[in-house]
Amino acid sequence: RVFADRTEACRTLAVGLAELVSSINASGRPAVLGLATGRTPLPFYAELIRLHREGQLSFANVITFNLDEYLGLPGGHPESYRAFMQRELFAHVDIPLGNVHIPDGSVTDIPAHCTAYEKAIRDAGGIDFQLLGIGRTGHIGFNEPGSPRDSRTRQVHLDPITREDAAPSFGGLEHVPTHAISMGCGTILEARKIALLAWGKAKAFIVKEALTGPVTDQVSASFLQNHPDATFYLDAEAGAEL
Ligand code: GLP
Repeated sequence: RVFADRTEACRTLAVGLAELVSSINASGRPAVLGLATGRTPLPFYAELIRLHREGQLSFANVITFNLDEYLGLPGGHPESYRAFMQRELFAHVDIPLGNVHIPDGSVTDIPAHCTAYEKAIRDAGGIDFQLLGIGRTGHIGFNEPGSPRDSRTRQVHLDPITREDAAPSFGGLEHVPTHAISMGCGTILEARKIALLAWGKAKAFIVKEALTGPVTDQVSASFLQNHPDATFYLDAEAGAEL
């Protein structure tokens, strides 16, 4: 879906998500949301906060799982995805803190942590709605080129392009972590409904590759072509090459 601008795209999606949360809650169970970081979801989180303030969306019966987290950042680092989520969404809504799950980039036993993360998603009943951005390498989460279709939550190595894109927020490439923990492509594709957001002309080429190119592990977002309920929400610039 191509919108005139990102605000319109985010409004449409936020209203749809509020309806989904309320209908799942009305069926007597928590709604399970997969959340994303990066600059792209910021206007979407602003819309969710607005709907919350207007009384149209409650997170009281919502469980969240974030896609990924950098490895090796000191606790409380402002660029950690935990700090990002707190600042940009959780501090402004009524989510119980015990319902928030974000991979922990400071653990020593990474494989055990990843296994426990996958189990927590299963125990919550699976993800109802997964939000995604897209990196210039075509990654979803931090599933860089070469990530298998059936990959699960694990330690990943960041592509040089991804680290270059993150360098300004870290105050230089040398401060950008080299590794992360990320949900796998298989984990993401099990979500029942998926929305990928992309804005601006810098994303136009990779959006076209993901949507109309071959389905390949070289562009992990291309796996979404085979998902039964995945939608791209684009502004006019990101959709310009379609
Ligand atoms: C990081 C995140 C992704 C995000 C991507 C794009 O790599 N792990 O989830 O989609 O950046 O970032 P931005 O939205 O800032 O363009």
